[in-house]
Amino acid sequence: MICSDQHCFDIAKHGYVNLLSRGGGSSKYDKKIFQSRRLINNAGLYNPLHVAVSQMIWNQQASNECISILDAGCGEGYHLNNIQLEINQKKHNTLAVGIDISKEGISIAAAGYSNAIWCVADIANCPFAGQQFQFILSILSPANYSEFQRLISDNGLVIKVVPDQDYLKELREIFYEGSHKQVYSNFHTTSHFNEHFKLLEVESIRYQVNLHKTLVEPLLGMTPLSWGASKERIEKVLQMNLKQVTMAFKVLIGKKSTT
Ligand SMILES: C[S@@+](CC[C@H](N)C(=O)[O-])C[C@H]1O[C@@H](n2cnc3c(N)ncnc32)[C@H](O)[C@@H]1O
Repeated sequence: MICSDQHCFDIAKHGYVNLLSRGGGSSKYDKKIFQSRRLINNAGLYNPLHVAVSQMIWNQQASNECISILDAGCGEGYHLNNIQLEINQKKHNTLAVGIDISKEGISIAAAGYSNAIWCVADIANCPFAGQQFQFILSILSPANYSEFQRLISDNGLVIKVVPDQDYLKELREIFYEGSHKQVYSNFHTTSHFNEHFKLLEVESIRYQVNLHKTLVEPLLGMTPLSWGASKERIEKVLQMNLKQVTMAFKVLIGKKSTT
């Protein structure tokens, strides 16, 4: 791929492009985390969230024109692919673009899903012209609101999914028993969002999912919650025969503020 300034970018075997401007990006997320996430995603744990987000996008569309969506911090791509499939079922075409700073995540995304454009890129320096996207998704990922302001079209929406207090509470209760981390608050994330975008709506989504015993290990492997937990507590979760987990999110929907 050659840009108008004659810079050349290789298209990788799986079809993604690395558009990081300088060297490699750094992310604590490695291949194993994304593989664990893929297993958990394939088991459908996030599907009700995808249905809700697709509905929000779809509800905004008055006409049948193609919907452009950027998933910023898309990881291994499952959320974007599933949301795209949901929208396509409603007979809407989508132009879906997923970016992540992790080459491992994007490589797994591109290998699995060919309907979207996948790029290794930094959300702080996105390789796209301004006002290119009607929807920007930021799902359980860091955000860069000045870049989002630049990239979103005038009537576009930013949809940010943040964990709610009860998200994976079964793990949190064991990992962080007796510490301040036992109770999670999304207060600061929500106020930060509100400073940059006009908050139109906040939707709470909460459900419980059954967990097959083969999924306990990938569940522990996919979540940063386990990064701060001791070996003993991780072992305790593995032994406790966890059968259900709580999924709880806040979905913040914001539009470009004109001031
Ligand atoms: C908690 S994971 C969420 C991934 C995906 N949205 C999901 O829910 O499975 C956070 C993601 O943000 C990505 N990330 C962190 N900093 C980034 C940056 N500056 N630019 C792009 N992606 C970034 C990480 O590589 C990781 O994939």
